[in-house]
Amino acid sequence: MAILDKHTILEKNVMLLAIVSFLVVSIGGIVQIAPLFWLENTIEDVEGMRPYSPLELTGRDIYLREGCYVCHSQMIRPMRDEVERYGNYSLAAESKYDHPFQWGSKRTGPDLARVGGRYSDAWHVDHLSNPQAVVPESIMPKYGFLKDRLITPENIEDRLRTDRMVGVPYTEEMIANAKADFKAQADPDADTEGLLTRYPKAQVRNFDTAAGISEMDAMIAYLQMLGTLVDFSTFTPDVSR
Ligand code: HEC
Repeated sequence: MAILDKHTILEKNVMLLAIVSFLVVSIGGIVQIAPLFWLENTIEDVEGMRPYSPLELTGRDIYLREGCYVCHSQMIRPMRDEVERYGNYSLAAESKYDHPFQWGSKRTGPDLARVGGRYSDAWHVDHLSNPQAVVPESIMPKYGFLKDRLITPENIEDRLRTDRMVGVPYTEEMIANAKADFKAQADPDADTEGLLTRYPKAQVRNFDTAAGISEMDAMIAYLQMLGTLVDFSTFTPDVSR
């Protein structure tokens, strides 16, 4: 009973109670959170994940610029209704090359984490140009101007280097070939052997079918690859640790 008697000291002194409670809660927090910063396996490596190709990365930058994340999340939660609607729940590894991540906090529109391959390129062109023509009740703004804005990959090497500074494993070879890879991915007649060894599963075609590489091409290249890198028919979660 002795220790319980001493407890009355805490119960009768508000400041002491606050300080000791704070200490106890802090220890709990540190024990739970701190190891995640040092453990190698906080993010398990998953086969198929690779950095974005130069064209996809450009599309992603336009996605950020236009604020698509304000209405769209990119994180499928491990709950039955989500998995049935959107596909396999998102893995941590699937956003490990995202700076910043696009998990989002609001779904005015649907989650886009696995929108890749769900629609044709032509559908995306129509939908981005005039969402209401495809889904009459849609409140999504029109982005047809993306098609008129032609882009040249002027700063793409620096763009890859910047991501490398924050941990994306772009190699010297990827940086040296960035301009060529950017152009090749939107050109169905290009020699894409190098592009495809550097970025497996990169989809190569003229995405908006119009001449020249536009922001629309980059955006659709990005949308069509979302969630397509990991092969979920062979993926088994590592539950051994
Ligand atoms: C004001 C909110 C809003 C913004 C901003 C917005 N969207 Fe949407 N989006 C929606 C809504 C609502 C839908 C569902 C109706 C529809 O398909 O249009 C949708 C649907 C979509 C779909 C179809 C998803 C599916 O699974 O059917 C795609 C792809 C998409 N948006 C891409 C984008 C992109 C890319 C941008 C930025 C350029 C963007 N959206 C910006 C609200 C928004």
